Amino acid sequence: MSLVDKYDRAFPYLRLSITDICNFRCEYCLPDGYKCSKESKFLNLDEIRRLVTAFAELGVWKIRLTGGEPSVRNDFTEIINIISNARGVETPAFTTNGYRLKDNAQKWYDAGMRNLNVSIDSLNREKFHKITGHDRLVSVLEGLEKSLEVGYDSVKVNVVLLKGINDNALPDYLDYVRHRPVTVRFIELMQTGDNLEYFKKRHLSAEVIQTKLLEGGWTRNIRINGAGPAVNFTHPDYAGAIGLIAPYSKDFCAGCNRLRITASGDLRLCLFGEIGVPLRDLLQRDDQKHALQERVMKQLDYKKSSHFLMQGETGLIPNLSATGG
Ligand code: 5AD
Ligand code: SF4
Repeated sequence: MSLVDKYDRAFPYLRLSITDICNFRCEYCLPDGYKCSKESKFLNLDEIRRLVTAFAELGVWKIRLTGGEPSVRNDFTEIINIISNARGVETPAFTTNGYRLKDNAQKWYDAGMRNLNVSIDSLNREKFHKITGHDRLVSVLEGLEKSLEVGYDSVKVNVVLLKGINDNALPDYLDYVRHRPVTVRFIELMQTGDNLEYFKKRHLSAEVIQTKLLEGGWTRNIRINGAGPAVNFTHPDYAGAIGLIAPYSKDFCAGCNRLRITASGDLRLCLFGEIGVPLRDLLQRDDQKHALQERVMKQLDYKKSSHFLMQGETGLIPNLSATGG
C-alpha cells in the first residue's frame, strides 16, 4: 500500500494539527481570540504514535505539527519525540507563531525537531501588534535568531499577504534574508467560512510580489517534483530565499503533496475539502493499524483534483486554527 491518488499525486507529507487552541488573535484567523466551543479533546500521545506509525508505513516521510499553536500543548516535546523517532520520518517540522520559541528552540531541537516555520506578518512592531493582538515581534525575532544558532535544517517565515498592511513590506523582508539563511514565504490570504469581509478588503494576488522580485534580479527556481505548491526565488546576493504560495493561481493544486489530520483525528483530504473522515476510533489499539491504513487508502479515492476556491467554496473550515493552514 502507498499513498497515491487517481491523479497520480503521491502524498509523502502529513500535516498533523495537535490542538485548535491559539493564544494569538490574527485578524484573518481568530480576530476575537480562541473560543472554546465544545469540550476540546485532542489526540493523546498514544493516538498520535499510532497514527504516525501507520502513515509512515504508507510512505509519509515528512510530518508537520500545526494547530492552532502546537506549542501550547504541555506535552509538545513528547510529541516531537514521537514524530522524530517514527521509522521513515526524515523531516519533522512544525509551524508556530513563535511565542515560545526563544526559550525552547534548543529543547525542541534536542527532542528531534529539525524544521520550523514561524508566522511573522509584519517586521514593524506596531503592525505586528495590530495584526496578531500581541506586542511580541521582538521576542519572536529573538526566537528565530536562537533557532538559527541552534542549527535547525530549515527556518522559514510565513507572511500572509495583506493589502494595505504589508503589501509594501518586501524591502523589509529582503533585508532580513540578505544575510540569514531563512526562506520568507508570502501566502495569499485565503477565504474561510469566518473571514469573508476581511478577505474582500485585504486579499491580494501574490503576482505583485513576483513582479517586484523579477525586476530586482531574483530567479524563479525550477520546481522539483514533489516539492509542494510553493514557488521559490533566489538571488546570488542573498543568503535566504523568497517563496510565494498562491492558492488562487492556476495549477496550484497539481502540486498538492499533503494530507491533513485535524486535532481531533479527522482525515482531511484538502484544506478546503468537504470531507472529514474520522480516524480516531481506529487509533485506540495497536492492532487496528491495518484497518486504519485501509480506511485512509479508500478515502484517497475521493480526493478531488482541485479545491474549487475560485468558485467561492470554502469547504468545512470556519478559520485555519482548526486545520493549521
Ligand atoms: N489565509 C492564508 N493564510 C492563513 N494562515 C492562517 N489563516 C490564513 C488564511 N485565511 C496562515 C498563518 C500561518 C499558516 C499556518 O497559515 O498565518 O502562517
Ligand atoms: Fe493563531 Fe496561527 Fe490563527 Fe494567528 S494564524 S490566530 S497564530 S492559529
